[in-house]
Amino acid sequence: MKGLILSGGAGTRLRPITHTSAKQLVPIANKPILFYGIEAMAKAGIKEIGIIIGETGKEIRAAVGDGSQFGVKVTYIPQDAPLGLAHCVLIAHDFLGDEDFVMYLGDNMLEQGLTSFVDDFKNARAAGGPKAPTAQILLCHVENPKQFGVAEVDKDGHVVRLVEKPENPPSDLALVGVYLFDKTINEAVRSIKPSPRGELEITDAIQWLVDEKKVVHHQVLQGWWIDTGKKDPLLECNRLVLEVLEPRNDGEVDSASQIEGRVVIEKGAVIKGSRIRGPVVIGSGSVVDHSYIGPYTSLGRNCKVEHSEMEHSVVLDGSSIIGIARLTDSLIGRDVAVTRSEQKPRALRLMLGDDSKVELE
Ligand code: TTP
Repeated sequence: MKGLILSGGAGTRLRPITHTSAKQLVPIANKPILFYGIEAMAKAGIKEIGIIIGETGKEIRAAVGDGSQFGVKVTYIPQDAPLGLAHCVLIAHDFLGDEDFVMYLGDNMLEQGLTSFVDDFKNARAAGGPKAPTAQILLCHVENPKQFGVAEVDKDGHVVRLVEKPENPPSDLALVGVYLFDKTINEAVRSIKPSPRGELEITDAIQWLVDEKKVVHHQVLQGWWIDTGKKDPLLECNRLVLEVLEPRNDGEVDSASQIEGRVVIEKGAVIKGSRIRGPVVIGSGSVVDHSYIGPYTSLGRNCKVEHSEMEHSVVLDGSSIIGIARLTDSLIGRDVAVTRSEQKPRALRLMLGDDSKVELE
């Protein structure tokens, strides 16, 4: 079985961060979101992974390389424009050939691994016969099904209908960004037409399988699932991952500092006269000086926090937070400076990128 990870797309909902970098490389607990997906595939026994890349392809290639750091072989598949999830299957045909594969959205995070999902499909297919599935989808009970692709399932557990963002949802079972397919999906993606939003939709391709009387299985997800494409779900995901982090201290903490709870201090990080209250991760080479870092904060590498208080935030590499009384619920990009100035007259002096969002007290 092969793997296909979708890591192109526009990332409009995470601007301005995604003006300059790929949303799949935004870190959760200081590790790129995309790496969690690759690791889950490797753990499920998948050795060959195709990664769909778009405008941010160069950066993704630089981070993932040939895949050897994960024990897999990676093939990059460039996509000229984000023309839909089913379009990704279409252009991946040379890589996929006629093999079964697992498809994974590169900005999704799951608590559950992929192993049981993949094994279920393998076993059901190995059993053969008319009941062997051509596809298997992962579903999750949600409170607001109108915002998702929604599945209707019959009493035998077969998927009978899929609808994208329905006005009257047939169930509360939303499609999670993980799918298993056999080669029949290649015919499905060639047979469907673009949707009104101009994309080749994977829900339409799966509906085509159902209409052709193919068997589509499903599994209901255990644990949490987050589409990290927006700021607040991303912070929530960071919180969930930090909550299960193994604490360790590979940095330097002076005697005037207090470290409480689950805290990871990476190599070369320095904590001076500060209080760190976990769950928190402090990246290598970062300095925290006379500050408070509160729960659910991930501070990237080579950051500087001085005379500041912050919590429930994700800060990317190379940024500094200086003299800020209280920073919370924030996502801060790379090499950003947030500082207090003594300059008169007192005023806010900003240089913000396109699509930035600032909330003042
Ligand atoms: P989405 O989050 O649905 O789309 P997007 O990346 O365009 O984001 P936004 O809505 O913020 O503009 O995509 C899910 C994943 O699939 C994401 O990792 C990007 C990837 N993708 C592709 O690789 N190619 C595509 O054609 C599309 C639509 C998405």
